[in-house]
Amino acid sequence: MADLGGYARLRQLASEDPEEFRRLMAMAFEKNVVPHASQQVVLDSQARFKIMNCGRRWGKTVLAAKIIVSKSRKKNQMLWWVAPTYRIVKRGYAEVIRQLPAGVLAKPAPPDSNFDAGRAVILHFKNGTVMEFYSAERPEGMLGAAVDYCVMDEASRMKPATWQQTISPTLIDHEGGALMISTPKGRNWFYYEWLKGQDPQQPLYDSWTFTTQDNPTLPPGEADRMAASMPKMEADQEIFAKFIAAGSSVFILQDHALQDAAVHRSGLIEGQDVTNAHVMLGIDLARTSDYTVIMGERENGENVYYERMQAIAWEEQRRRIRRAVSVLHRAGAAAVTLVVDEGNAGSVIVEDLEDAGYDVVGINFTTHKANMVRLLANDLERGRAKVLNSPEYGLTEFENYEMGITPGGRYTYSAPEGQHDDVVSAKMLAHHGTVNEGVSGGVITVSVDEPVPSREDLPQSDDLDAWGDMEEYEDGAFDDLLDEDPDLDDPRKAAEAIGLVVVDLTRPPSAQELMLQDDLWH
Ligand SMILES: Nc1ncnc2c1ncn2[C@@H]1O[C@H](COP(=O)(O)OP(=O)(O)OP(=O)(O)O)[C@@H](O)[C@H]1O
Ligand SMILES: [Mg+2]
Repeated sequence: MADLGGYARLRQLASEDPEEFRRLMAMAFEKNVVPHASQQVVLDSQARFKIMNCGRRWGKTVLAAKIIVSKSRKKNQMLWWVAPTYRIVKRGYAEVIRQLPAGVLAKPAPPDSNFDAGRAVILHFKNGTVMEFYSAERPEGMLGAAVDYCVMDEASRMKPATWQQTISPTLIDHEGGALMISTPKGRNWFYYEWLKGQDPQQPLYDSWTFTTQDNPTLPPGEADRMAASMPKMEADQEIFAKFIAAGSSVFILQDHALQDAAVHRSGLIEGQDVTNAHVMLGIDLARTSDYTVIMGERENGENVYYERMQAIAWEEQRRRIRRAVSVLHRAGAAAVTLVVDEGNAGSVIVEDLEDAGYDVVGINFTTHKANMVRLLANDLERGRAKVLNSPEYGLTEFENYEMGITPGGRYTYSAPEGQHDDVVSAKMLAHHGTVNEGVSGGVITVSVDEPVPSREDLPQSDDLDAWGDMEEYEDGAFDDLLDEDPDLDDPRKAAEAIGLVVVDLTRPPSAQELMLQDDLWH
């Protein structure tokens, strides 16, 4: 095969060993990433510092790998690849290895288990170039080198010091360059670096913003599907790569998120028939603030119960919870579940309520808050949850609830300084319950074949109250419950009046069926 050009050699291979030819071609195509249009824009820039702000899945890691692999063609370079965590650096490492041409390494690439073992992961090239991979979780290991080029994958998730104190100084000796590539995390340090790239007075910097939709290699509609699956504020950041300002409102309250209804004195909400409903009572107990809020939500995200009280003594709060559960059962609810914060020593309260016989779901609010906020924000935007449309019932708390960002890029959610968020917290607990906790027992379906029992035969209303002591409430507290006197000649209404869940209704309940209704006999 003397003296043939590359092309002729390939032709010869294709005819003599088609199998091997196909294998080589496949390898070449797999390794050679053809940049998509917006990636090409970045490749064309000559800036020393490139700051790329992009939506998820835009192709950040693929492009960064392509750039660092092209830098490795030059000899005796010191190249760094830094990511915020080992998990993310591993992904970058895999992509770089995938794109490396065959035969360029002087030693085999170390296994990525080195990352887990805390060992250095370094590629040595035959041309003397060295490529080192780091997680910014451990900046200690990153000192002392004169670096020619550094990729920072998911830069916004690193601490500002990683850039300012660790990486930037290593670029001085060789006038090294850097590629910061990331989905934004609010307006943290990455945003300010990105701004430099927009400033004509800063010729060393160039910066861009691209959205997930700008990646034409994703399946059609995929980016839109991702955006539709998250709260708008999150999609703005994660998909449309917007730098969200701290203090932005979290909840977007369009008409379909608002429930126009007054709250009765009993706590029940006007226009809501809770017969057979499974109600989630989100309870934000007065501990750090002065108010306790009990917010009842039913399966469709509408509110069925609301109570806000100034009560610090646990005994008093407990009494109000008991009352709320009673009121809902009397109104016909098939099941009531309490959703309570079990963080901050709340597990004692959860146990206490469980011992008292309630169906309780304890949630560690501190750990789950971010997810609960996202769930509620998302469902409010889609009309799958509602808030009461009145400042009297906490509407302002929802309007003012805001997002903040820590210097490390973590979200925080809270009311503005000095304002309350107990209604928001109670609603989040209730809604989390509606979405994540099913009915636990309680619902019995019967077919009815006996005559309707007379009113005297039915348990008296106080017997329905499993939690006793209703007397302590002022007369008339439940007036609005008694407005409708059920027509006992109608089998459906009769059955419903005593709390039966009726599916097939051609007959009134039998004595046995009544006996089966546990809660009627306590
Ligand atoms: N130029 C390209 N040619 C072919 N496929 C590409 C190209 N750029 C990106 N992709 C594909 O798009 C997807 C996303 O790429 P990549 O993982 O680099 O994106 P990312 O922005 O780093 O994503 P993430 O936000 O998850 O970190 C991958 O499936 C990748 O293979
Ligand atoms: Mg990536």
